[in-house]
Amino acid sequence: MTLEEKIGQLNQYSDDWSATGPVTVDNAKATQIKNGQVGSLLNCIGVERTASWQKIAMQSRMKIPLLFGQDVIHGFKTTFPIPLAEACSWDLEAIKLSAQVAANEASASGIHWTFAPMVDIARDPRWGRVMEGAGEDTYLGSLIAKAKVEGFQGEKLGSTNSVMACAKHFAAYGAAIGGRDYNSVDMSERMLWETYLPPFKAAVDAGVATFMNSFNDINGVPATGNKYLQREILKGKWGFTGFVVSDWGSIGEMINHGNVKDGYEAALSAITAGSDMDMESRCYKNNLAKLVADNKVQVALIDDAVMRILLKKFELGLFDDPYRFCNPDRQQKALNNPEHTKIAREVASKSIVLLKNENHLLPLSKTTKTIAFIGPLVKAVKQNKGFWDVEVPGVDSNFIVSQWEGIENKIGSTAKLLYAKGCEIEGSNRAGFAEAVNIAKQADVVILSIGERRDLSGEAKSRSNINIPGVQEDLLKELLATGKPVVVLINAGRPLVFNYTADNAPAILYTWWLGSEAGNAIANVLFGDYNPSAKLPITFPRSVGQIPMYYNHFNTGRPAKNDDNHFNKSSYIDESIFPKYAFGYGLSYTTFAYSDLKIGSTKMSKKDQLQVSVTISNTGKYDGEEIVQLYLRDKVGSIIRPVKELKDFKKIHLKAGESKMISFVINVEKLSFYNQNLEWVAEPGEFELMIGASSEDIRLKAGFELVD
Ligand code: GLC
Repeated sequence: MTLEEKIGQLNQYSDDWSATGPVTVDNAKATQIKNGQVGSLLNCIGVERTASWQKIAMQSRMKIPLLFGQDVIHGFKTTFPIPLAEACSWDLEAIKLSAQVAANEASASGIHWTFAPMVDIARDPRWGRVMEGAGEDTYLGSLIAKAKVEGFQGEKLGSTNSVMACAKHFAAYGAAIGGRDYNSVDMSERMLWETYLPPFKAAVDAGVATFMNSFNDINGVPATGNKYLQREILKGKWGFTGFVVSDWGSIGEMINHGNVKDGYEAALSAITAGSDMDMESRCYKNNLAKLVADNKVQVALIDDAVMRILLKKFELGLFDDPYRFCNPDRQQKALNNPEHTKIAREVASKSIVLLKNENHLLPLSKTTKTIAFIGPLVKAVKQNKGFWDVEVPGVDSNFIVSQWEGIENKIGSTAKLLYAKGCEIEGSNRAGFAEAVNIAKQADVVILSIGERRDLSGEAKSRSNINIPGVQEDLLKELLATGKPVVVLINAGRPLVFNYTADNAPAILYTWWLGSEAGNAIANVLFGDYNPSAKLPITFPRSVGQIPMYYNHFNTGRPAKNDDNHFNKSSYIDESIFPKYAFGYGLSYTTFAYSDLKIGSTKMSKKDQLQVSVTISNTGKYDGEEIVQLYLRDKVGSIIRPVKELKDFKKIHLKAGESKMISFVINVEKLSFYNQNLEWVAEPGEFELMIGASSEDIRLKAGFELVD
């Protein structure tokens, strides 16, 4: 390969018809591809379109096939719940299956590579991309990262049923100051290692094919030019053999960061730091050859990047057959597979969180005579897809089941359904209230569907105020004044602040954005065909002023016990110090009792495995699932340890009246942390073991000691 052809492999462009970043219009793409100056395209969908670009690549001297990448974040045509909603299921098999279906549909449509999973830990719901990850917890986030990589990539790369996955955004992108997307990140190395890096390591251990670095600077160095992250940790300590793609234009953005003077220095910094492929900045295309000529960059460095990329093309079988992902019949079948729809409905049902259910208002009876279904999201269609959906060419949106259709499908043949929009999502117009109140008065029960617009969360969608927008809660107030029972559905891509609703509505379901089967899944839960089992993977604050707020915090020198006497603890004089809804919280239509906590011994050495068992009983009248959570607290550490940390969980199904004993194993890994010298250690001393239905609903406790 010539140097120019090698550099071509490091160059990635977006296709023209859809963009997920600031587009550089470049009509010479076809010529550049023919000259072997492009290695990959993104935002190019469908077997016809990808085949057409591939044909051009096959005219190049070396006939190296193009890689086609796409943000297949939560489904392709069949849209699954946004990742934060899926994380509420704590169901790793379901999450893996969701990724498998997405990979099946994407690979059938010419895509080789998804820019997912996004594994950024996020503790700040102002950040719009909180919707794209697995929430605030490192342990749960690491397990979900593994499940998604396995789901996308299958057993082994090369099957036309799977795609390469991409762990992003490396690293600590979710810790942007102020929750403002693209903002700086500044944290201790210990925090980086303990909280933000483990999900990336879990992705490497699961065999993830690629990484994407992040826009943010971290501790003063842009991630894209961060040798410590990409060479020392990822490719060095972790032995990652895949390749790293920059995020859209991030190589060139190092100039804005003030870390380099121009594109020439940006290319030098990025290639040296281990960024293998340049998405859309053109810094590599325009500068690498000169850097080599100027003896600033050794060809060996470029060869390493090229080799990493060619190896993946080889593993995908593209050298044997560049068109092996371009089968029109397969595309047609994969995009119309009823099994995918069924799976999407099941995953969506598992993602709905029951936050409140006073006097067992839910589930609604299927003999309910008249239902008033009110709100700006009732008949919305594409809103249900959330951010980072995929617009598949030639596919219209009638496959998406609106919330109205879901209820119609469920009981439209027996109940009288009344509809009123009531108000818009945003704005102060109350003109629709009267109609809404009028139909509410005619109904036996009111369902009110409110929340954000789907594009109020996602990339570049940070909000300084995370209330429910507009006059939607005022509409609720009017509806409650009718005296009718009101069930509220909250649709959002982040935790919102909705204290009026939380304190006054008798029943609340957090429905997030559930994807193409939203209406059917919501109807399943509303009418009891699925007993909600989801639990929150992120803390819900009472006010934006409490942020950042997360369950695994330190105790401080003045620990919080309650909300009074401010000199005794770290607190506010104008707000509670407790969340509105805690990490791990979620209700069921049934109830569960926890009993008989047993631990194998009250002492364990670093070589031991401590057996723990507990009995869970379904004490209600509905069959249901419970996510039993195990938290540990290391009571004394050379580095202070959090008041509790999730270290294991089990999701179990129990019939009404059934009891089951479940067991856990505590090993030294679960007791370890990074000490002052960033060594991964377990220190002898006392530990508290907590078994809970949420991080704040601890049902049983026990103590044990780690001895030398
Ligand atoms: C975007 C996102 C990244 C995405 C990429 C390609 O800016 O930050 O997550 O994969 O560009 O669309």
